[in-house]
Amino acid sequence: MAEREMWATRIGFILAAIGSAVGLGNIWRFPFQASANGGAAFLTVYLAAVLVIGIPAILAEFVIGRRAKTSAIGAFSKLGRPRWWFVGAIGVVAAGWTLSYYSVIGGWVIRYIVGATTGAALADPGTYFGTVSVGIESVVVHALFMLLTVGIVAFGIEDGIELATKFMVPSIVVLLLGLAVYAFTLEGAGAGYDFLFTADFGAIVDNAGTVIPAAVGQALFSLSLGYSVMITYASYLGKDDSLLSDGLTVAVANTGVGILAGLVVLPLLAIQSGGEISAEGGPGAVFVAIPTALAELPGGSVVGQAVGFVFFAVVLVAALSSAISLLETVVAYLVDNYGFARLPTAVGLGAGIFLLGVPSAWDTAWLTWFDNISVALFLPLAVLFVVLFVGWVLGADAVAELREGSNSPGIATVWLWALRTVVLVAVIGVVALNLYDLFLVPDEGTYFVPPL
Ligand code: PHE
Repeated sequence: MAEREMWATRIGFILAAIGSAVGLGNIWRFPFQASANGGAAFLTVYLAAVLVIGIPAILAEFVIGRRAKTSAIGAFSKLGRPRWWFVGAIGVVAAGWTLSYYSVIGGWVIRYIVGATTGAALADPGTYFGTVSVGIESVVVHALFMLLTVGIVAFGIEDGIELATKFMVPSIVVLLLGLAVYAFTLEGAGAGYDFLFTADFGAIVDNAGTVIPAAVGQALFSLSLGYSVMITYASYLGKDDSLLSDGLTVAVANTGVGILAGLVVLPLLAIQSGGEISAEGGPGAVFVAIPTALAELPGGSVVGQAVGFVFFAVVLVAALSSAISLLETVVAYLVDNYGFARLPTAVGLGAGIFLLGVPSAWDTAWLTWFDNISVALFLPLAVLFVVLFVGWVLGADAVAELREGSNSPGIATVWLWALRTVVLVAVIGVVALNLYDLFLVPDEGTYFVPPL
């Protein structure tokens, strides 16, 4: 058998993992989740979730992947616990599931790069979004985005994903920084910062049952946890890497870029709405509000079009570097377990996942439903089992793996005990809240009902 692929460099792995984490979750999902769930209060719970659950859990996925050196489903047998294979399987299914609608949004972004540049997207943003986000127009760009994703994954780890993300991640950061500085100079930006940074803790307490699972779900989604993605990426790592510092780097970078994206998006949302950031919007929020704001920028249409081009180009790069990690997770499973060749596997899976996404492309109600199932059902379950598995089943082996290549070995035991106790309890709480919403709160639970 051919030798299994590996990352060529350590920074290559880190950038690929950051590329996976930073995506539509930060730029498209965060603003409308935050505005629907109390703004700064949401951000507070989100940050707490990154610290308490996100960082320990990303280390847990890294440990599974690097120790097993194989993709997510086979990893559990490799670790001598074949009965736990279903944990990897939930993640792999969730990865394909999520890519199906992620690619639809990615397609809209492609469309918006064109629409912003020509000005068509800025003229009447509501109508424009209504036209391009549904039906055949949306299916075509969905296909295009999937093609780009397949194109990168087909080249493999070193020549595909590592090479691409080495350019993508730095460009995202530089361009977002530029946009954030620009947004800062705009009149009316202040209301956006207030929204992001002035917490109304009363709102967390009053709506704990929905704000907490939404913010925790957003934090874990944003870190690409629960989709077997970090397990898969870590399986291409060598032993001399410090998982601890890589995990911290990814978490800090993702949160930083998330806040940076907020510093671009929220001022624009505030300008566009005259200071009041509304709870409405859903998946269209960024696509309608940003162009509306762009059309109102000082300097006239040329400025709006130029800024719009840069903005949507950043979003596209961020979306692609995440989409490839989702596809890679499913591809790696078939390549590792059945010895399939990478190229046809990537093409075949791309085609299948494209078809699964057609309903979401056709009608945004489906997209919302797919997203809800992904983040409120698959994700918390997978994270729960990962934490249980690494904490209570892998135990001492997990500690040994985290110590490998690390120069602060003492932390590994603290981490294990955190996983076994605080993290586990927190994740159980989140799963329970989601189930409570699902079964006991009629209004909330409806988000699990397919929009037939
Ligand atoms: N983390 C990505 C984002 O924020 C989405 C993603 C989730 C990617 C899960 C891979 C796995 O957009």
